[in-house]
Amino acid sequence: MSTYAPIHEASLSDRDSFWLDLATHIHWYKAPRIALDDSQPPFYRWYPDGQTNACYNALDLHINDGRGDQPALIYDSPVTDTQQPITYTELRDEVARTAGRLADRGVEKGDRVIIYMPMIPQAVMAMLACARIGAVHSVVFGGFAANELAVRIDDCTPRVILAASCGIEPGRTVEYKPLLDKAIELANHKPHACVVLQRPQAEASMISGRDFDWETALASASPAECVPVESNHPLYILYTSGTTGMPKGVVRDTAGGIVSLKWTMKNIYGAEPGDVYWAASDVGWVVGHSYIVYAPLFHGNTTVLYEGKPVGTPDPGAFWRVISEHKVKTLFTAPTAFRAIKKEDPEGEFLKKYDLSSLQSLFLAGERCDPDTLAWAQNHLGVPVIDHWWQTETGSSICANYAGIELLPIKPGSPTKPAPGYHLKVLDSNGNDCKTGEIGALVAENPLPPGTFTTLWNAPERYESAYFTTFPNHYETGDAGYIDEDGYVFVMARTDDVINVAGHRLSTGAMEEVLASHPDVAECAVMGAADDLKGQLPVGLLVLNANSTKNESDICSEVVQLVRDEIGPVAAFKNVVVVKRLPKTRSGKILRATMRAIADGTDWKMPATIDDPVILDEITEALSTIGYPKS
Ligand code: COA
Ligand code: AMP
Repeated sequence: MSTYAPIHEASLSDRDSFWLDLATHIHWYKAPRIALDDSQPPFYRWYPDGQTNACYNALDLHINDGRGDQPALIYDSPVTDTQQPITYTELRDEVARTAGRLADRGVEKGDRVIIYMPMIPQAVMAMLACARIGAVHSVVFGGFAANELAVRIDDCTPRVILAASCGIEPGRTVEYKPLLDKAIELANHKPHACVVLQRPQAEASMISGRDFDWETALASASPAECVPVESNHPLYILYTSGTTGMPKGVVRDTAGGIVSLKWTMKNIYGAEPGDVYWAASDVGWVVGHSYIVYAPLFHGNTTVLYEGKPVGTPDPGAFWRVISEHKVKTLFTAPTAFRAIKKEDPEGEFLKKYDLSSLQSLFLAGERCDPDTLAWAQNHLGVPVIDHWWQTETGSSICANYAGIELLPIKPGSPTKPAPGYHLKVLDSNGNDCKTGEIGALVAENPLPPGTFTTLWNAPERYESAYFTTFPNHYETGDAGYIDEDGYVFVMARTDDVINVAGHRLSTGAMEEVLASHPDVAECAVMGAADDLKGQLPVGLLVLNANSTKNESDICSEVVQLVRDEIGPVAAFKNVVVVKRLPKTRSGKILRATMRAIADGTDWKMPATIDDPVILDEITEALSTIGYPKS
């Protein structure tokens, strides 16, 4: 019987043959003979001599294997009252036509295409169409503002943008086209064309010569075949928050992503081809890329594309309805979704209305999973609830439990043990190993396994300096935690200015840049305070210019609106207060951790280096006026 420990061991000690063996499970135009090119660390290249295509592995392969009539995707949209299964053959045909249309617009292998679409089948088709012809997609989440889209347009310089006229949030329609028009106006780079899907909920006005209607364009398109690409050809760029306002363009290559994602479906999630798999996330995030689109399709599963929320569409039974109607075997979501359900239906009354017998496991990721939420889910669902730890950079889990190999005992609060290829360590600030149970920086020894990011788009120096410099020959995850006596990993907090709001990764630095741009703000700080529902929420503190004459509450409302306009509603920036001064060390560093402890109502010590302790009393007083600490 295969067990976890020898597999993990072999992935490190017998690295090349382990990963070459896994590579035989995917389709290649040219099979690789070399596992790893490590000649230019930290720019490692897996399967450097191979050639493959992600769209072929996701669609055509299964049709050739007789799966053409199986639903590849089930679109379930409570916000539009739609349910639509799409078979592998139907999806492949639509994708091939979309790819043909992109080719007609001059898109070639290596060209970038931005996809700005909500959770609709055309978003998945757009991604796969790019992969089909070797174009590099970059999906931008709909909850970001025009400015964030503009930054991404300038960074990845797309030839074409694929968009929809709107997204639908409970209670409101979010018109995408005005945001897209504004973003293109703000950006220096101008795309050759925008192809826009008109949804009936909002009609986009089109700019003649630049904008084209999706349906008309598709009607005249001839299907495109898959283009073989080198293993290390970029499949996509996905921007994620760093410590500054400039997001990081995480680059995923093609072959490593296919090999690693396909392996995880059986071995981590316990999924067999044909099973229904549901990742309740968004295609704009890494979980959506990996587990709504690519991995389930690489493995011949049926993936659920859910355009709705855990609550309010229409009630906290929404997830149970989807599971029972589509016979979902594996559900993957963020703990915050379960906290939202638990808050509205603490006794699990809605669960009783549905047959959940198809469900075999629940996987949670995206943020630390608090043991209460894990216990609630376990008690009510009666299936293993598995926390696993992930990053946009890694593309799949760094630590997980292995439902398809050996389900290790679950320890609440721990995402269990390292995935194959991860030699994880906990290091102190001098780079020495921490003792068992001692908190330090979580790092992985180089090289990272296949499927992890190969560089940052346009920023290879930042790739090296942000991730591989603090601890030489190691990848710095940016998370702090510890490893216990049984080898279980515990991820406790970020070591940088990144916060996690409802499973979404956001930069406090980026928010500070926006606050600082307000003419009345002299200085500011943003920190992530604990929140029962969303895990963390940003809280801003403003010091106003001495000559400011404006009403403080007007300034607060203005900066809230500014963050919404510049970053987007997804930042959930609503709590802000004016203070006289910010607490700093004698060398001028703002004491964010101490302010966070005050906001959270946890114990804190007077920092020895503080320049003026009285300021902390003022901060405590100010935070109390906006309800912190929460009782
Ligand atoms: N397009 C436009 N706006 C969006 C959006 C999108 N795709 N997604 C979210 N927003 C907006 C929301 O409408 C909301 O705006 P508001 O301030 O006007 O209310 C704001 O961004 C914050 O959204 P959200 O974080 O979704 O909070 P919420 O209060 O609307 O819902 C939860 C709370 C817990 C139900 C929700 O966060 C959720 O479903 N979380 C699951 C997390 C998840 O899937 N994470 C992915 C990683 S695995
Ligand atoms: P993202 O890149 O948006 O997926 O966010 C990655 C970050 O989310 C990680 O660096 C962690 O800080 C956090 N995270 C994701 N999954 C977990 C988990 N299971 N436990 C703790 N933190 C997590």
